[in-house]
Parts: sequence; structure tokens; C-alpha cells
Amino acid sequence: MMSVHPGWPEDLGPLRVPAGVVTVRPVKLRDAAVWSRLRIRDREHLEPWEPTGESPWDARHHITVWPSLCGNLRSEARKGRILPLVIELDGKYCGQVTIGNVVRGALRSAWVGYWVASHVTGGGVATAAVALTLDHAFSKVGLHRVEATVRPENASSRAVLRNVGFREEGLLKRYLDVDGQWRDHLLVGMTIEEVPTTVVDRLVRSGRASWV
Ligand code: ACO
Repeated sequence: MMSVHPGWPEDLGPLRVPAGVVTVRPVKLRDAAVWSRLRIRDREHLEPWEPTGESPWDARHHITVWPSLCGNLRSEARKGRILPLVIELDGKYCGQVTIGNVVRGALRSAWVGYWVASHVTGGGVATAAVALTLDHAFSKVGLHRVEATVRPENASSRAVLRNVGFREEGLLKRYLDVDGQWRDHLLVGMTIEEVPTTVVDRLVRSGRASWV
């Protein structure tokens, strides 16, 4: 019998980029300390682009919050609704990439979202992690379409999406409550027909990444 969530839990990569070697793996209970430390340190880097929270930033990212957050993410993953993944650079936690709102049936679609700690940005980490995650989504997970939404002002995230091959589909007005206001978002999408080999293969051919 096919599992509820094919492709979960699984490790992805490795892939080499200028910053080092990128791998992607499921979130774990023992990520608590590094998650809390990086999220609290990087508030200014992250907050402009993330959904508005219901409690103050530091409280939301206290180390004691992770066990229940991680437990909920893993429980949703077991039900086949999300893939909550950690990005590692040279074996160290440096961010997260999530496949969310997995819908099956005739849609077979989901969104992807991600963040990378400020001390490792600019070295191809997010691009590699998103590419690995998309290939997984289109193969083992069995999706036909992956979409993402990004604020037009988020130049580096738009570059990531463009570099992995997303296509712009339109502007969603006042789409998401981000950083305290309803913000416009660009919608980008990709379907499996647009990936003749793999997303990673395309990155490698364009010289942005190499096999380890
Ligand atoms: N203007 C234009 N391009 C820029 C700028 C800028 N100010 N700064 C960086 N870039 C480009 C880089 O040149 C690079 O493109 P290139 O390879 O064509 O040169 C690209 O942006 C960055 O690529 P990576 O190095 O792979 O990405 P990085 O590991 O630095 O992570 C990320 C990018 C995820 C956006 C990180 O900065 C971050 O976590 N930001 C805060 C949270 C966030 O914005 N998350 C994304 C929300 S949208 C979504 O999830 C769909």
C-alpha cells in the first residue's frame, strides 16, 4: 500500500555550492538550541519577510517553544500535509525549507518557503536547498506543481526563485499578513513538465552547483 506521505522522512543532497556542501533533512527535536539562537539573532534579517506572529519575536523563538513546534510539524508531516526540512551547510543547521499545504487528488500541488541564517547568505545555500527540495517534491512526493509567494521587495528571494526556474504568474494584492501589514506578493509556479531532467541538474549545468 502507498504510504500517506511518500518521501517523508528522507535526507536530500549533498550538493556543493560556493558556501560549502548543502544537505536537507527532516526537522529534529535536537534542533531547539540552534533554531532559537539563530532566529533570535536574525530577527532583522527575517521579520520583514515572514508572516506576522501573535506573540513577541523573542518569546515565539524561545528554546522551550521548539519541542511543541517540532512535534506539530512532524505530526502534520506524518499525515501527509507538509515536509518540514532543515538546511545544513557542511553538516551544520543553517535554515529551513518547507513544503506546505500538500494537496493530492487532481491538484497534486504545494507551496515552498525557506529562510537561511544571515551568516551564510550569498553563497548559493538557499538556491541549492530549494532545488533539492523541488526535485524531491516532483519525484518521491509525487507532486505535479509547486508554487511560492514572495514580496516584490525581496530581491534575494526573487533571485533564488528565478535561479531554480520558477515562472512568474501574477501579483496577489494584499495577500498575506507579513511584518504587521497586508502585503502584496508575487505568485510563482513550476510544474513537472517544466523540468526536463531535474532542477539540480539545471543548476549544475549552469555552473551554480556541483555534485559532491
Ligand atoms: N538584490 C538583488 N539580488 C540579490 C540581493 C539584492 N539586494 N542580495 C542578494 N541577491 C541575490 C544573490 O546575488 C543571489 O543571486 P545570484 O546567484 O543570481 O547571484 C541570490 O540573491 C541569493 O541566492 P542564494 O545565495 O542561494 O540565497 P541565500 O542562501 O543567500 O538565501 C534568502 C536567500 C533565503 C532569501 C535569505 O536571504 C533569507 O533567508 N532571507 C530572509 C527570509 C526570506 O526572505 N525568506 C524567503 C521568503 S519568500 C519564500 O519563502 C518563497
